[in-house]
Amino acid sequence: MVSPSHPNGTEIGRLDGKVVVVTGASKGIGKATAFAFAAAGAKVVLAARTRETLEQVAVALKKNGAQALAVPTDVTSVDAVKQLIQQTLDVYQHVDILINNAGIGHFGPVVDFEPDDWDAVLNSNLKAVYLCAKYALPSMLEQGSGQIINVLSVAAKVTFQASSAYCAAKAGALALTKVLASEVRQQNIRVTAVLPGSVHTPFWDGVPEHPDFEQMLTPEHVADTIVSVCQQPPGMVTEEIVVMPPLGIL
Ligand SMILES: NC(=O)c1ccc[n+]([C@@H]2O[C@H](COP(=O)([O-])OP(=O)(O)OC[C@H]3O[C@@H](n4cnc5c(N)ncnc54)[C@H](OP(=O)(O)O)[C@@H]3O)[C@@H](O)[C@H]2O)c1
Repeated sequence: MVSPSHPNGTEIGRLDGKVVVVTGASKGIGKATAFAFAAAGAKVVLAARTRETLEQVAVALKKNGAQALAVPTDVTSVDAVKQLIQQTLDVYQHVDILINNAGIGHFGPVVDFEPDDWDAVLNSNLKAVYLCAKYALPSMLEQGSGQIINVLSVAAKVTFQASSAYCAAKAGALALTKVLASEVRQQNIRVTAVLPGSVHTPFWDGVPEHPDFEQMLTPEHVADTIVSVCQQPPGMVTEEIVVMPPLGIL
C-alpha cells in the first residue's frame, strides 16, 4: 500500500530526522510526548532535573530503536538551558522543534502561600518558557524553520481558587506565546499554545484535593495532540489548542 504523501513527496505523519527537545521529559506528559515523537521517527532530546528517571526514559526509547539524548537540566537556570541547547547542537547539529512542557504546581490561598513557592512556580512555568525559546531560536532562525509548542493549561484562561501562582504563570506564558508567535512568524517559525484540562500524571502526587483520576485525560492524549500539530503541513499554523476531558473542567 502506498502511504499518503504531501505534494512535496514527504510521507504524512513522519518526522524522520527532526530534532525535538522536550522539557519535563522524565514523567507525565513530557515522557509520553518523547515516546510519541520517537514513534514518528524524530530524534528526541530529553530534559528534566532528575538524571536517573531521565536516563531511564532515554534507555527505553533506545530499546525501541529511537535516537535519544538525556540532558539533565533545570530549565529555570540560564546556564543549564544554554548547556541543553549546546549539547543538542553538538550531537544533532540543529533544533527543529522545542516542546516547553516542564512545569510544577504549588497550591494554596494567597494568604498562606510562601514567597519561595511563588518564585518556584513562576520560574518553572513562565521564565523557563522564555529561556528555552530564547536559546533554541538561533538554530531555528539560522535554518529558516522551526516549531515551538508551549504546554500551558486551561488555567491560562480560567482561574481556580488556591492557584494564584499557577494561574498567573500560565496566563503569562500564554501572553508570551502570542508575543513570540508574532515575532518569529515571518521567519517561518510556528508557535503553538496547548492548553490541557486535567491529566492523570505524577503532577497530582501530593495534591490532596484533586479531581477524579478516572475522568482525567491520559498523558498520551496530550502527547498525540502535540505530535499532530508538528505533523501539519506547511502553509498553516495552529496557534492554540484546548484539550479537555470529555466531562470538561473536573
Ligand atoms: N497534569 C495535569 O493535570 C496538567 C494539566 C494541564 C497542564 N499541565 C502542564 O503540563 C506540563 C507537564 O505536566 P505533567 O502533568 O506531565 O507533570 P509531571 O508528571 O509532574 O512532570 C513534570 C515534568 O517536568 C519536570 N520538571 C519540573 N520542574 C523542572 C525544572 N525546573 N527543570 C526541568 N524539568 C522540570 C519534571 O522532572 P524533574 O522533577 O526531574 O525535573 C517532570 O519531568 C506542566 O507544564 C503542567 O503545568 C498539567
